Amino acid sequence: MTSRIPGFYHLTLSERLDKISETVDLSDEEKTTLLDKGLSVQQADQMIENVIGTFPIPLGIAVNFKVNGEDVFIPMATEEASVVAAASNAAKLTYQTGGFTTSTTGSIMRGQIQIINVKNPYHTLAKIYEKKEDIIQLCNEQDQTLVALGGGAKDIEVLVLEESKMVVVHVLVDTRDAMGANAVNTMLEAVAPLIEEISEAEVVLRILSNLADKRIVRARATFENPFNNKKDEVERFLSAYKLAMIDPYRAATHNKGIMNGISAVALATGNDTRAIEAGAHAYAASSGVYRSLSHWELGDDGHIIGTIELPLVVGIVGGATQTHPVAKLALKLMKIKSAEQLAGIIAATGLAQNFAALRALATDGIQKGHMKLHARNMALMAGAKMEQVDKVIQQAAEKETFNFDTMKEIVESQQN
Ligand code: MEV
Repeated sequence: MTSRIPGFYHLTLSERLDKISETVDLSDEEKTTLLDKGLSVQQADQMIENVIGTFPIPLGIAVNFKVNGEDVFIPMATEEASVVAAASNAAKLTYQTGGFTTSTTGSIMRGQIQIINVKNPYHTLAKIYEKKEDIIQLCNEQDQTLVALGGGAKDIEVLVLEESKMVVVHVLVDTRDAMGANAVNTMLEAVAPLIEEISEAEVVLRILSNLADKRIVRARATFENPFNNKKDEVERFLSAYKLAMIDPYRAATHNKGIMNGISAVALATGNDTRAIEAGAHAYAASSGVYRSLSHWELGDDGHIIGTIELPLVVGIVGGATQTHPVAKLALKLMKIKSAEQLAGIIAATGLAQNFAALRALATDGIQKGHMKLHARNMALMAGAKMEQVDKVIQQAAEKETFNFDTMKEIVESQQN
């Protein structure tokens, strides 16, 4: 299969879906789920409390991606115009150079057990390490299924926070294809009384850490130079990246652009976007200065080489990944077989998104392209009826102006 579908953007919605299902083999029922049904209120009512409806978000497909040698259509759930187009355009520049290559450090999550008012913290640390095997065993008794799959608690780390008379036990759990919060939190709560007994002190927090520094994903790609090798534009691109390495004000926006891609794929697959965002930003600050999650270097022949590194806590079993019908389909669309595979694809999307933003910022700025793609939204905001939208946009294009006031003028002139 190929993820290259030239002109995908110009197809009608149902033509796009047909194109995708030619290669991914979607049933009529699955197509209906995507087109009309989505998540039913009855299903929603099983997921959270006090449900009164659902809140649909557009699901787009990013094309042109090749990840670890395999072409993939990437489903992205986002309310923001131009994100899907930007990822697709950037990925196109990597297609001939080999696409994206990814690696992961595994699926180990950290859970924290906080012990307070510890009389002799270092003595307690030593005693806890002596009981490491008992702690791990008790944790693993809580989740036989995970253990049978090769996962489960693997190790502990004990930290002393001397000034505050606290000791914190980290339980390291391999959660395999699950995001892992439930598995880890259940283990921590079960083992807390044993920790109190060993430490002869009081346990307070028993909770997973979202700074998943043992679940790191890396992606790299070589982007063909989009500037016709104009040296000053490449330099502008690289200087935009450099600012994100030294200035937290810029780094926050730079990383926000990365998360435009990452969160959209995470949301489409029913993953916990807040956990991913928290982990990414904490990791970005782990040197003590908040900075870019990506790096950009000049390669041979004027190519631009990008790399990204961040913790990505994603699952493909449990939670909304399986109960949300669209999330299930999103995993099917990408032929996902493991959480690590999904994490690699998500990191690749973030890198492509970042390239697209820097490319636009180094040249025209983002507004020109963005406002054009945002035009449909604006036409609707300006009061256009669904059937009027195309005409309004056409007139705005003739005027070469895509701002709200122009849209409103056009809508009003059509309605009068
Ligand atoms: C907008 O959603 C994201 C950007 O601001 C990212 C960036 O500035 O790098 C365009």
